[in-house]
Amino acid sequence: MIAKYQLYDLTYDDLKRKAAESDITQLVSPLRIRIDYMATVYFSSPIMRKNKKVTPVVGKRDALLGIAKENDIKIPYECEDGRCGSCVVEITHLDGEHIKGVMLTDKEREGLKNIGKLTKKDAERASVGDMPPKHRLACQMIVTDEDLLVEFTGEPGGA
Ligand code: FES
Repeated sequence: MIAKYQLYDLTYDDLKRKAAESDITQLVSPLRIRIDYMATVYFSSPIMRKNKKVTPVVGKRDALLGIAKENDIKIPYECEDGRCGSCVVEITHLDGEHIKGVMLTDKEREGLKNIGKLTKKDAERASVGDMPPKHRLACQMIVTDEDLLVEFTGEPGGA
């Protein structure tokens, strides 16, 4: 019988990365490992009576816009495909120096450029160092296990 599995020597960081890269939060081998990450995301906008704190399970690879919708937070949006720029938000990483690297997709990079929300410096930092820019498209941004402050004006493309 041919074995239908592969063995990996995984560190905790490997497991975290694997879970973040996939839609599954369970790795099944001789052991079953369930990994659910919690992030704390604070939403703030002049159109909200007060800031809202949300703690999504982020192993599901939800986009920020989906999390906002689930929690009745009215980030403007139209295309939900990175093209219109309506859902632009400003992100502050609350974990200090430990900002996670992120590879902007071409779609998000172009979307941000088209609405003038990706500075040359931010674009360079994103492509060279995988550092996330200050502005993101909520429909494209996948929430990881980082704590974030998300600010938006309530006007389409207005962050
Ligand atoms: S909704 Fe159009 S770019 Fe996000």
